[in-house]
Amino acid sequence: MKKITVKLKTNPYNIILSAKEADFISNLKKLQDLSSVFIITDSVISKIHLSKFKNLLIQNKFIVKTAVIPAGETGKSLKSLSFLYDSALKNGIDRKSCVIALGGGVVGDCAGFFASTYMRGIRLVQVPTTLLAACDSSIGGKTAINTDGGKNIAGTFYQPYFVWLNTDFLKTLDMRQIRNGLAEVVKYAFTFDNKFIDYLSKILEIGIITEQNFEYIIYKCCSYKADIVQKDEKETRGLRALLNLGHTLAHAIETHTKYNKFLHGEAVAIGLLFAAQLSVYKKLCKQEVYDEILSILRHCGLDPQSPPFSIYVFSKEIAGQNKKSNIAALVNLMKKDKKSVNSKINFTLLKGFGKAQSGYLIDDKTLYNQLKVFFNT
Ligand code: GLY
Repeated sequence: MKKITVKLKTNPYNIILSAKEADFISNLKKLQDLSSVFIITDSVISKIHLSKFKNLLIQNKFIVKTAVIPAGETGKSLKSLSFLYDSALKNGIDRKSCVIALGGGVVGDCAGFFASTYMRGIRLVQVPTTLLAACDSSIGGKTAINTDGGKNIAGTFYQPYFVWLNTDFLKTLDMRQIRNGLAEVVKYAFTFDNKFIDYLSKILEIGIITEQNFEYIIYKCCSYKADIVQKDEKETRGLRALLNLGHTLAHAIETHTKYNKFLHGEAVAIGLLFAAQLSVYKKLCKQEVYDEILSILRHCGLDPQSPPFSIYVFSKEIAGQNKKSNIAALVNLMKKDKKSVNSKINFTLLKGFGKAQSGYLIDDKTLYNQLKVFFNT
């Protein structure tokens, strides 16, 4: 077992990296006066992991209730939230219960929001089952749902009691889900660590990611995330905003395509490449940084400009007949993003390999022109 502590002043907690169920159970048993656990998962994960997971808890004498929300980004909705409040009440979930978010980023965000608001807040444990959730979204306490107008528009900061990160869950992931998570991994490497870029580049060139590679990658990302979250929990000091590299455009794309075309990481891959282009344009870094990010994304199967990946389809669509109106719509959505300041769009950009900086306010015209260049290629 490995343990990373998120050293927050008020609610410090551990990320438990372990494939042993006993490690999870012993941590859950530390929660005082627990009346019941409320497992929230999605319609895909429920078929793969729910019954075994539920049995584990029942065998250990927990009272267990479950709720299943729709899989995919569209499941992160007001409708799911409303369903969860009703389901929790019907199942007798009370203030001494604990929510267990069993799933990927969608489940973690929605279950987290639910836990932070149900009866003014009940306890939360995150059990990520995807690479993306393991590396990023299950840590740090961001919770949210999407609205028609914007991604993550309603949400809270609400830290879990602990995160159980069992890489055995990742063994059932398909390639699309692996790529989805790799986009966030690429983000961490380019934001923080030149050596990590080299490491990724090497293993991706070989073309095989072993279990040990995954464990190393996840440990690295979690360590960076824990460090940033403990220094800037609520994203007020410009540090946590570093983790938004690639996310400004990504969120606009997800909203523009009604949350049903891309997985979050796929949109992030487009956003990362665009952030690199913008960084080169602003003379913050050299062309070789853009070239390297493109090469790594290509090796991950996440090249926005090449088939067979679905981003290719989107790039073609944007570059097609409705190019101008699509690009204008993306710019408008970015203006409404919660990171925008007085309608100026806030970007995290690259100053070199493994070096990001937040807080670049970009005007609409520059953005529009740069997007035209980006989607024309
Ligand atoms: N996913 C970025 C953050 O948690 O801040």
